[in-house]
Amino acid sequence: MRRILITSALPYANGSIHLGHLVEYIQTDIWARFQRMNQNEVFYVCADDTHGTPIMIKAQGEGITPQELISRVHKEHDQDFKDFLVEFDNFYTTDSDENKFFSEEIFKSLEKAGKIIIKEIEQFFDQEKQMFLPDRFIKGECPKCKTKDQYGDSCESCGATYTPTELINPFSSLSGSKPVKKKTKHYFFKLSDCEEFLTHWTKSGTLQPEAENKIQEWFKSGLQDWDITRDKPYFGFLIPGEKEKYFYVWLDAPIGYMASFQNLLQKKELDINFDDYWKDSGKTELYHFIGKDILYFHALFWPATLNFSGYRKPTKIFSHGFLTVNGEKMSKSRGTFITARSFLDHIKEPEFLRYYYASKLNDSMADIDLSLDDMVTKVNSDLVGKLVNIPSRTFGFINKYFDGKIKTLNDIKKEPFYFELIQKSLDLQHEINELYENRLFSQVVRKIFTLIEDVNELINDQQPWNLAKNIEQNKEQLHNVLTTCAYIFRNATIYLTPILPNLSFKVASLFNEDIFHDFNQAGKDIKNVTKYNHLLQRLESEQVENLLSANKEQGLSKPENKKINMNQQIKIDDFQKIDLRVALITGAEYLEGADSLLKITLDVGSLGNKNVFAGIKSQYEPNSLIGKKTVFVANLEPRKMKFGVSEGMILAASDEKKGPFILFPDEGAEPGMKIK
Ligand code: MSP
Ligand code: ZN
Repeated sequence: MRRILITSALPYANGSIHLGHLVEYIQTDIWARFQRMNQNEVFYVCADDTHGTPIMIKAQGEGITPQELISRVHKEHDQDFKDFLVEFDNFYTTDSDENKFFSEEIFKSLEKAGKIIIKEIEQFFDQEKQMFLPDRFIKGECPKCKTKDQYGDSCESCGATYTPTELINPFSSLSGSKPVKKKTKHYFFKLSDCEEFLTHWTKSGTLQPEAENKIQEWFKSGLQDWDITRDKPYFGFLIPGEKEKYFYVWLDAPIGYMASFQNLLQKKELDINFDDYWKDSGKTELYHFIGKDILYFHALFWPATLNFSGYRKPTKIFSHGFLTVNGEKMSKSRGTFITARSFLDHIKEPEFLRYYYASKLNDSMADIDLSLDDMVTKVNSDLVGKLVNIPSRTFGFINKYFDGKIKTLNDIKKEPFYFELIQKSLDLQHEINELYENRLFSQVVRKIFTLIEDVNELINDQQPWNLAKNIEQNKEQLHNVLTTCAYIFRNATIYLTPILPNLSFKVASLFNEDIFHDFNQAGKDIKNVTKYNHLLQRLESEQVENLLSANKEQGLSKPENKKINMNQQIKIDDFQKIDLRVALITGAEYLEGADSLLKITLDVGSLGNKNVFAGIKSQYEPNSLIGKKTVFVANLEPRKMKFGVSEGMILAASDEKKGPFILFPDEGAEPGMKIK
C-alpha cells in the first residue's frame, strides 16, 4: 500500500470558483479517487487562501471584516466543490491556528539556518491611501519585454518576475495616483543562497520536462532573494517579534497544505503520524497539483522553504495549463467567464464537465480548451449515446427472460467468442491503471470507450430485440449477448469511477452493489441485474446558450436596462450633484482580454490624473483619442473592475444601433474646468 498526500492549490478567498479553477480541482480529484481505488492510503487536502491585501480591500469595500468575508466565501467554495464531486479529505482555511503555528515555526527555523536577512528597501507608497502598495496593486510596463499594464510582481506576457520598483511608469491601481518611494525594513528569504540545492532538486525528476525548462530560464536570470514581509495595514500573520509587519501571503499559503493536513488528523482523530508525511519522506509520497502560473512559488520558494526548515520536499509537482473557452481566454463580455455555480444552474450535471475535462487532460502544461459545442456533442454521443445506451437496451431483456440473472464468468468461458470480449475488458485494467497514474486521462477515456464501442457493436450486430422475438430458439445466444454486455458495461463503469463517481454509484445499484471502490471488482461475478433506471439526461444546446447569455456582462452602453423614467423631472440641485469636468485624454490603450473596454488616462486639471475604463473600443482607435478633450464625471463612486479601478466616467452618445460617440467640448475648454 502506498501512502499518498495530494494537494490542489488553495483558491483565493476573494472570488468564486470558476471553470478555470475546476480544471485543477477535477484533475486532482480524479487522480486522488484513482489512487483510492487501488487501495492506497490517500489524503487529499486543500484550503482557502485567505490572507493578503486584495482580501482586505474587498472586505473593506463590502463594509465587513476580512474574517466575515472569508467565512462566507469558504461556505460558498465548499458547496461548489461538493457539488462538482471534488472530494477533499479536508477543505480548510489558511487563517487558522495550525497555519500560524507552522508559519512561525518555519520562519524561526529559516532564521536559525541563516536563510533570513533584513534589508531596508524602498517601496512604493500610495499617499492617497496611506499604505505601501503590494505588487499586485501597482501596474506599469514590464521592465523585460515592455508590455503595458502588467502587475508589479510578474509579467503575464513574458513570465518575468521582478520587483515593482523595476516597473516602467508605475501607477497605483487603488487610487490611480503615481506612487512615491518610501523606505521600510523587510525580512527576506535568501533564495540566492539556495541555488545549489534547487539546481539539484529541480533536476531530480520532480518536475515535468516543460517545467524543468522554464526553471532553467529562471536560473539563468539569477535567483533573487524573496521578500516575505508586508507592512500594515495587512490581513495575515504578524512576523514574530514585530507589531506592524506581516508575513506575505505566499509565505503562509503553501504552509496551509501542512496546516490542513494537521487539522484533518486532529479532527478525524486519525492514528497517523504527521511527521510520516512531512518529515520522513521515505515512508510517504507528497504531490502538489498546481497551475502553470504558480510554478515559481511551488518549484523554487516552496522546496527551498521546506528544505531549510527541516521538512521533506514534494515527491512531484504536477502543473497544468490554463483554460480557454471556445478557443479564447475566459471573458465576461463573451459570457465565457463562468462560475461553478452558474454552470450547475444551467447544465445541472457536474459530471458533464468532469467527463469533458478528463477527455482533454493529460500530463502536460499546455492550455486546454473547453469548446462548449464540442462538450454538448461529446457528452451526448459518448455518455448518453454509447454508455447509457448499453443498459437501456439490454437490462429489460435480462429481467424479462432471465429473471435478472446472467451467466457467471466461469459459464461464459465456455463461449470463447463472448468470453474473449469480456477478457479484453479485464486485460485493459493494467493499461488503464498506468494511464491514470501518469495523468493521461484523455487516453484513459479513449481506452475505456473502445470497450464501450465493442459492446455497442455487439448489440447492433446481434440485435437482442430480434433474438427475443424467437426466444425459444435463441435463448442461449441472447443470454450470451446480454451477459457480455453486462460484464463489459460494469467493467467500463468501474474504470470510469474516478471521473464519473455519481454515474458509477447509480450503475453499481443497477447491479445491486453499494459502490465501486476498487478496480479489482472488475474481475468479479455479477450477482444479478435490477430494472433499468434512467441514468443521464441529454444535454441540450439551449442550456449552453442560456449559460452564455446569463454570464454576459452588460455593455456600458445599456443604461436603458436600468429602467430610468425619462419623463420624471429632476431639480436643479439634483443635477448639480454631478461634478462634470473637462478632461484631457493623455493615454488610451487596449486591454488584454477586454472586448469592449479601453483604458483611458485623463488629466483633469486640479483634480489630477484619473483612470477610467470606457466601453468605446468598437468605435475608437486608442491613439486617435490622445490629445483630445472630453467630459468627465468626476464624483462618480470608483468602481472596481477586472482590469483595475475605474475612477469615473467619460460621456458618450449612443443608441441601440450606433455609437458610442464621445462628447468633445468646444475649443478653449481647459482640463479641470467645471461644466455647469
Ligand atoms: N492562492 C493561490 C494558490 C496558493 S497555493 C499555496 C492561487 N489561487 S487562485 O485562486 O488564483 O488559483 C487556484 C488554482 O487554480 C491555481 O493553481 C491556478 O493556476 C488555477 N487556475 C486559476 N484560473 C485558472 C484557469 N483559467 N485555468 C486553469 N487553471 C486556473 O493561485
Ligand atoms: Zn514581460
